[in-house]
Amino acid sequence: MDNIVLAITGASAIQLGERALQLLLQNNYKVDLILSKGAYQVAKSERKINIPVEPNAQELFWRKTLSVDSGKLNCYRWNDNAAPIASGSHKTKGMVILPCSMGTLGRIASGFSLDLIERCADVHLKEKRPLIISPRESPFNLIHLENLKSIALAGGQIVPPIPAWYSNPETIDDLIDFIVVRLFDSFGENLDKIERWKGPKK
Ligand SMILES: Cc1cc2nc3c(=O)[nH]c(=O)nc-3n(C[C@H](O)[C@H](O)[C@H](O)COP(=O)(O)O)c2cc1C
Repeated sequence: MDNIVLAITGASAIQLGERALQLLLQNNYKVDLILSKGAYQVAKSERKINIPVEPNAQELFWRKTLSVDSGKLNCYRWNDNAAPIASGSHKTKGMVILPCSMGTLGRIASGFSLDLIERCADVHLKEKRPLIISPRESPFNLIHLENLKSIALAGGQIVPPIPAWYSNPETIDDLIDFIVVRLFDSFGENLDKIERWKGPKK
């Protein structure tokens, strides 16, 4: 079973992270999940849900909410810097931050590893393992752009949550699926079927 670190931060659209978690577990992955402190706040504001912070309670919450029994899920507190995934000696296939707030982005770009998400991202960069960051902000200021550039130069991949329109999405779920599946394409994974470009319709 492959081990992927999934981080959800306090940017808009945590539905993207939720769908990624659901697809990874349905595809039998082992997921190490970290929600930032900000993510709980956004979940409350945008989704009207209270996500439990305690790891075992959170695992039960996700399994029930996402209706998924397969895969393996380990949830971590945002400040659990003694977690196995905080060390480079703990092997992973890679890490995805979806969505990524500008706060988390800035801390990673400056090497300021205060909480577990930043520490894990730092570890993935230093170990030269895949790190995908999906930044959610609009418009970007120059500091955001410089931070994205720093992470790209350090070996991370920037995959913004931008949908395609050629697939003729009809629902928000269509948009979410396209964004999540295309993001994991960059990771070399094929999580679900989506409409892919086949040339102009005749
Ligand atoms: C409802 C809501 C939506 C937010 N959306 C964004 C966003 O899209 N991008 C962003 O960078 N910050 C956004 N923020 C602000 C972050 O949550 C805030 O800067 C937080 O400190 C980020 O913490 P984190 O990086 O630890 O998740 C939002 C906050 C709230 C309450």
